[in-house]
Amino acid sequence: MSNAISTSLTRLLGIRYPIIGAPMFLVSNVEMVVAISEAGGIGTFPALNYRPIEKYRDAIAEMKALTKKPIGVNVIVNKSNTRQNEDIKIALDHGVELFITSLGSPATVIREAHKNGAKVFCDVTNLEHARKVADLGADGLVAVGTGAGGHAGPISPLVLVPWLAREMKIPVVLAGGVAVGSQIAAALSLGAAGVHVGTRFIASTEAGVDLAYKNAVVQSTPEDIVMTTRVSGTPAAVINTDYVKKIGTDLPLALRVLKDHGLTKKYAVPLIHWLGMRSLEQAATSSAGEKPSWKTVWSAGQSVGLVNEIISCREIVENLVAEYHVAVAALPR
Ligand SMILES: Cc1cc2nc3c(=O)[nH]c(=O)nc-3n(C[C@H](O)[C@H](O)[C@H](O)COP(=O)(O)O)c2cc1C
Repeated sequence: MSNAISTSLTRLLGIRYPIIGAPMFLVSNVEMVVAISEAGGIGTFPALNYRPIEKYRDAIAEMKALTKKPIGVNVIVNKSNTRQNEDIKIALDHGVELFITSLGSPATVIREAHKNGAKVFCDVTNLEHARKVADLGADGLVAVGTGAGGHAGPISPLVLVPWLAREMKIPVVLAGGVAVGSQIAAALSLGAAGVHVGTRFIASTEAGVDLAYKNAVVQSTPEDIVMTTRVSGTPAAVINTDYVKKIGTDLPLALRVLKDHGLTKKYAVPLIHWLGMRSLEQAATSSAGEKPSWKTVWSAGQSVGLVNEIISCREIVENLVAEYHVAVAALPR
């Protein structure tokens, strides 16, 4: 086992390495969370990966039975998630140590988590949002920059992280593009307390998605990643498959008009979200039934260019840490 890397993040959570296995819709599962936490990082998953809610309860119970190390849950905190309160309660009842919030206000999660001593990190893409969540009592920030998988932010992590680290007093974790250990050295030198790694873990043996999706991550270059609003209405990073090229990366005009119009926005946004999520779900699990095809929507970030093989989550964490130590030792004195 490599030397531990001690930062404010590892001390806060009681973990060995400052590596969060980021929550990924349709990708993260029990096996990944347990393997990442057991390897010394912290595994996390979106609560909504387990539906209905009984499956979510069983998944958390299973994780907690398989590892004594901390784990994390991602709760979508906007109104479209009607399960929010139950998701939080079940996690707390099982002693989940970390919550990661995305979209919407994290006020409820922070209040409930703190009653149990759990920590809350909030996804942010700028200083204004960082200040809001810090005022609500967030324990840390996930600074989501350009190049990230999922809903990437518009600011380069090279700027976003030192900016937030300078202005804010709570730990800042860098999200966006991290797949090799030299980037952890870079992140820590920018003032980050750790890294939030998504895309790299799609190409893991444990990920519950189709092999064609994992192979696409291994084979793609950063130039194959495009931003599309067709998935959820908000720009999201996807692999530019033939299917994505065919359907385009903009919402159809009709939906765009509905979304931008005050009267219909309320109904159009959840509809767009649902339509997008349905196509993602069909793509990610296409082996169930029809053959996987390149005609699908696969979410991933620019770090695909740094991913060359499908390996276990433990190996991914160990490689990141070993590469970090090599990178630090190789820096000019
Ligand atoms: C396939 C995929 C699904 C994602 N789903 C979610 C999600 O459900 N909730 C969330 O907060 N972030 C989600 N993200 C964002 C990740 O948690 C993380 O911030 C991002 O992957 C970091 O950038 P990277 O992919 O370059 O490592 C997703 C990312 C990917 C690639």
